[in-house]
Amino acid sequence: MPTPVPTAYSRLQIRLHWLVFGVLALQYILHEPITEAFDMLEDGLIPDFDPLVAAHVFGGFLLFVLTAARLYLRKERGVPPLPEVDPPLQRMAAHVTHYSLYALLIAMPISGAVAWFRANEAAADAHSVMRVILLGLIALHVAGALYHQFVLKDGLMQRMRKSESV
Ligand code: HEM
Ligand code: HEM
Repeated sequence: MPTPVPTAYSRLQIRLHWLVFGVLALQYILHEPITEAFDMLEDGLIPDFDPLVAAHVFGGFLLFVLTAARLYLRKERGVPPLPEVDPPLQRMAAHVTHYSLYALLIAMPISGAVAWFRANEAAADAHSVMRVILLGLIALHVAGALYHQFVLKDGLMQRMRKSESV
């Protein structure tokens, strides 16, 4: 972690967090066309060009780049430490969830690309299993944020809404 350790997320880190959230939601909502196109590939057919299939591929690559940018910023600029008052187990759970989210945001585009460009069924299966794990982690992450907001009422949500720096 760089010194001095920042006390807040930067505006760029906050924008990237919410941009990833938006693009990710579209990947889930608009997955049907690529699933159908992949079925055709598996049957040895060549699917027609469909902008929604291209959007899934492009959206996935974009998520890869945005996640790499977030990890770079995390390393170079740092992130605010988790609240000291949280019990150690809770802080560890938050760390594990955050790193697992980053790992899946990198692994999803890679498995998707291998499935799509190499018509690889094992990669498609991995992509499919990981999308369920990713959803579960997001649910856990959001539940954690809501717990801070409405039960602990410690204003943690503010950290992903407002920033003092660029
Ligand atoms: C974080 C990025 C991504 C997310 C969240 C995501 C999400 C999804 C979801 C929810 C499905 C439906 C899975 C199912 O019905 O079993 C899917 C299917 C698929 N995605 Fe992605 N995807 C991402 C990146 C990519 C990329 C970059 C590519 C290709 C370059 C890709 C290629 C595919 C293919 C080929 C399928 C069909 C797999 C099958 O039917 O078994 N995905 N994706
Ligand atoms: C409604 C949805 C969401 C809410 C309310 C939310 C809220 C938050 C909050 C408040 C933080 C800051 C935690 C802290 O300062 O300790 C945070 C961090 C984080 N969020 Fe979310 N989030 C949401 C969706 C997502 C999604 C979809 C992802 C990715 C799949 C994600 C990934 C992360 C990661 C990786 C961090 C840790 C950042 C770091 O310190 O490196 N979040 N989120």
